Amino acid sequence: MIRDKLSRKFEYLRISITDKCNYRCSYCMPSDVFGSNHKFLKKDELLSYEEIIYIARELKHFGLRKIRLTGGEPMLRKNIQLLIGKLKNEAGIEEVHMTCNGSLLSKENIRELKRSGLDSITISLDSISKHIGKKLNPTHTDNKKVIDNIYHVLDHYGTLKLNSVIIKNINEQEIIPIVNQFKNDNVNIRFIEYMDVGESNNWDKDKVITSNQIKKIISQKYSIQQEPTIKSSTSEKWILNNYAATLGFISSISKPFCNDCNRGRLSADGKFYTCLFSTFGHDLSNHIRNQDREMLRLFFQNIWSSRIDQYSKLRSIANHPSNNASKIEMSYIGG
Ligand code: GTP
Ligand code: 5AD
Ligand code: SF4
Ligand code: SF4
Repeated sequence: MIRDKLSRKFEYLRISITDKCNYRCSYCMPSDVFGSNHKFLKKDELLSYEEIIYIARELKHFGLRKIRLTGGEPMLRKNIQLLIGKLKNEAGIEEVHMTCNGSLLSKENIRELKRSGLDSITISLDSISKHIGKKLNPTHTDNKKVIDNIYHVLDHYGTLKLNSVIIKNINEQEIIPIVNQFKNDNVNIRFIEYMDVGESNNWDKDKVITSNQIKKIISQKYSIQQEPTIKSSTSEKWILNNYAATLGFISSISKPFCNDCNRGRLSADGKFYTCLFSTFGHDLSNHIRNQDREMLRLFFQNIWSSRIDQYSKLRSIANHPSNNASKIEMSYIGG
């Protein structure tokens, strides 16, 4: 067990297994920035599955108990079920989850993912309307396929978390249709405030719809009620009275959750970041590739024990150090 300078444990690693994605959501990988000239990581720069398993096993020593596979789009990596199986069975990680865009799932691969030990699947969907979906993401041509895949995940897992990023004047009219669509299903519908991650999404606080504004919109049609929230969770849980679905609000802008942040991030090429908004990554790849266990442990111990990040909590402070350096893109660092 290890604690950072603010007494926060390290329990949870989010791993971006690829920086590539088949989508171009405007809030994450806008197509004018991530076009044909964009340089993605080369194949030989990516950590292999064996290297990821090695690091998971080593970080378990410090308290790691949960991993979330992200990207980019994690389903673009081949045979991801082999990685999941080994993380659970060889590295002994208690929980392994995945956040994906849902477009590359199928009945068959969901069954395989479940069989490999994946504990849950979270899917991103920001609109029911195809037309509005296209405004947010020009490559999102098939909402229906993603919605069908949400139901396939429900068939296999019985439950799922849905992520919807809401942006002012773009998709706030989709809040009610999303709730209408899934209200009778065992889905935790999470509305996410648009965040200032990376440098390419042209974020502006005037484009943010806050969780309180979203709650107000929902409560005009539905009766909602707050539930107790788990301490280290990103989302505040609410009940949708009389329906099977529950609601979640992820309020990194209006109600930051840095105080209990127990998570680190690993990029696809082996850099460790102590915060989603970090401007610098600690390169673990040499220690992983040399299998230098002592050096890796010492290196990690120093990184976590000197951690002071609380970007969301401090973002409005003018001289916050991150305000002057370039932030890392979400697709590279793993949301
Ligand atoms: P769990 O803790 O496993 O429940 O993860 P999650 O459900 O929060 O993960 P998911 O990948 O679904 O992310 C949901 C949203 O929360 C995304 O917009 C993430 O970028 C955001 N998010 C996840 N972790 C953090 C964090 O540590 N800080 C901030 N500011 N946002 C985060
Ligand atoms: N603000 C909020 N959430 C974002 N995501 C990607 N970019 C942003 C952003 N700028 C979300 C995706 C996905 C999760 C991993 O992060 O919608 O669900
Ligand atoms: Fe791809 Fe997810 Fe980023 Fe959209 S939010 S571009 S689906 S990685
Ligand atoms: Fe953790 Fe950084 Fe997110 Fe705060 S902003 S919750 S410190 S990752």
